[in-house]
This record gives sequence, structure tokens and C-alpha cells, in this order.
Amino acid sequence: MNTKIVKIDPAHPRMEDIREAGRIIREGGLVAFPTETVYGLGGNALDVTASQRIYAAKGRPSDNPLIVHIADMASLLPLVTEIPEAARKLASACWPGPLTMIFHKSSIVPLETTGGLDSVAVRFPSHPIACALIREGGGYVAAPSANTSGRPSPTMAEHVIEDLKGKIEMIVDGGSVGIGLESTIVDFTEKIPTILRPGYINEQMLRDILGEVRMDKGLIAEDSRIHPKAPGMKYRHYAPKGSLLIVEGQTDRVAAKIEEMAREKTAAGYTVGIIGTDESVGRYSSGIIKSIGTRSDEESIGRHLYSVLREFDDCGAAYIFSESFDTPKMGQAIMNRLLKAAGHQVIRV
Ligand code: TXA
Ligand code: MG
Repeated sequence: MNTKIVKIDPAHPRMEDIREAGRIIREGGLVAFPTETVYGLGGNALDVTASQRIYAAKGRPSDNPLIVHIADMASLLPLVTEIPEAARKLASACWPGPLTMIFHKSSIVPLETTGGLDSVAVRFPSHPIACALIREGGGYVAAPSANTSGRPSPTMAEHVIEDLKGKIEMIVDGGSVGIGLESTIVDFTEKIPTILRPGYINEQMLRDILGEVRMDKGLIAEDSRIHPKAPGMKYRHYAPKGSLLIVEGQTDRVAAKIEEMAREKTAAGYTVGIIGTDESVGRYSSGIIKSIGTRSDEESIGRHLYSVLREFDDCGAAYIFSESFDTPKMGQAIMNRLLKAAGHQVIRV
């Protein structure tokens, strides 16, 4: 299939381009587009065949449900059986934005879109291209992250091109995304709202708005037999091709340990990668050293995580050693992704 790649300026989107992308979605085709979190792979959420095509293009297991994207609050009601008061409150505080909420689904949402579940995940993104496209595409756009299943989520159009060119009708290039980590998911089908995936909207922000909030046991359990409730969180996504190890502890000791291991693996003939920050990269001298961002701006770390992991795939790193980024606001989201990428390989020094 020929994939049309269209550059659109988020500040001044050309309506002609958006209309063309919307038409593709209404006719059952697939369009990748930027959101404020990561790029999404969009298709008509109410069309069984479009949903099946999304799974096929990503190589995604069919029991892993898709998020339905809307572009106004009124579009929520037809998708769900009821909207709990707490969810309304959260929507008015955080939508449009990097938040997904789970509800009991209505009959208009096909089981093919929800991976067979009787609940539906809904998100109202804030990115201007995403909103315009959802409106032109008929109002309900199913969109998982626009990566091949198992690869890091795409934060720029080049990542989408790498994974999906030739498999979908169109890729909208709206430049780099702002947040770089997928939306926070809160489940409202439970008695107490439950975080199924941490994101930019963190636990404290949710608690300030909702009062009581729980963290899904499967996310924090050491016991790997306790499965997370969001089916996608059980897969070892975001996996780099090389072996990733996280080193935690006091700054000087972390740098010394990483340098020691990098030296050892380099001497043994392996391509080695190091993930540090602007503050620390000067301490390293072995292997390929990359800064993920600066500790004085934790959002920069979230924004670059996935592209750094992809860069290490591209240069064939067999071993990657990373510092830990347990920062105050986004630390939970960053470490959730990094730990999954590392298959939970962590050493403390
Ligand atoms: O930021 C985002 O949310 C991005 C952009 C494109 O909007 N989308 C995204 O979609 O991250 P995806 O498919 O890569 O991740 C969706 C996650 C998966 O872990 C999935 O299992 C979970 O949401 N999910 C979807 N529907 C669910 C449901 N009904 N119940 C529990 N988990 C659900
Ligand atoms: Mg994903």
C-alpha cells in the first residue's frame, strides 16, 4: 500500500489536508496523527473492520483494547451506559488533555474495538490536529499508539514511518509531541477510581481532584502473577532490542557503576549504550552516551525517553545502562515505562 505522508503545521492546520485525512477514516481507512502524548494510529472506532485493520497493522494481540478518541464532551454519552459524578469532575478538570477514562460501554461500541471487554476507554485529546481530525473523521476515532506492537511508542512522525509505512493510508506529520508518554488511564468501572497506567496527570493531581484514588495492584505488585487490569500493561512493551539495565542509588555511585559495566562490555566487544542526563553525561567515557534531558526539567526526560530507546535500537546496542529517573511529578510514569523496557532489571548501588 502507498502511504501518503502529509506535513501539517499544528498552529495553522490546512483544512484541506485535515478533510482528506478525515475522509480516509470515515471510509474505513487508517491515518496516523500526532496527539499531545504520542502519535496515534486512527481508524473509525464504530467500524468493526477498521478496528481489525488497526490490530493487523500494529501486529497487536486482539485482546488488547483500543482507546476511543472524541473531540467534544457531548460525544462521550453515546459510548457509555453511565457517567459517574467523579468522572464528570475529572473530565472538567483534565479534558481536553492526556487522560483516558474507562466506563461500561454502550452497544454502539463494537467488541472488536474493546478487545472483547464490556468496558470502553475514552480520551479527549488537546492536540489541535488530533481534535480537527477526530471531528472530520466522524467523531469517534480508535487510536492506539502508532508503533509496531512491542516497539517504543512514536513521539515523532519518523518513528511512525519506520513502523507503519506501507501498511496504512496516511501519516500526518505534525512534528514532535509535547509529553512523550501515553495518557494516564483511570478506571471508573471500579468503586474507587483506579489508575491503570500512570502518565503526565499524576496520582497527586488525581487525588486533589477526586479525593480517593487507587493504584491498580497489578502495576505495583512485585509478584508477576498479579496481572494489571489494562491488558496492554501486561505485555513487555517498549522493549529495546538490547538488554537494558537500570542503576539506582546515590549519583556518584550510579555513575561509577555504569561506567565500570560499560567499560567491561565494550572491552568484550559489545556495542554499549548509556542513558544519562545533561548533568551526568560528562562523567561517562565508554560506549555511546546519550542525554535523555535535564533533571531540572523532568518533562524533558519524559519527552525523550522513547526516542532515546529507538536510537539505541538503530545503533545496535547490545547492552544499555540507564540511570533511574524517579523525579517528583512524572517519575512514576517515566519509571513505569523504563522498568517495563528493562524487563525490571534493576541494580541498587
Ligand atoms: O496517550 C495515549 O493514550 C495514546 C494516544 C494515541 O492517545 N494511546 C495509547 O493507546 O497509548 P494504546 O492502545 O497504546 O494503549 C491503550 C492502553 C492499553 O494498555 C490497553 O490495554 C488499555 O489502554 N485499555 C484500553 N481499553 C481498556 C479497557 N476497556 N479496560 C482496561 N484497559 C484498557
Ligand atoms: Mg501502545
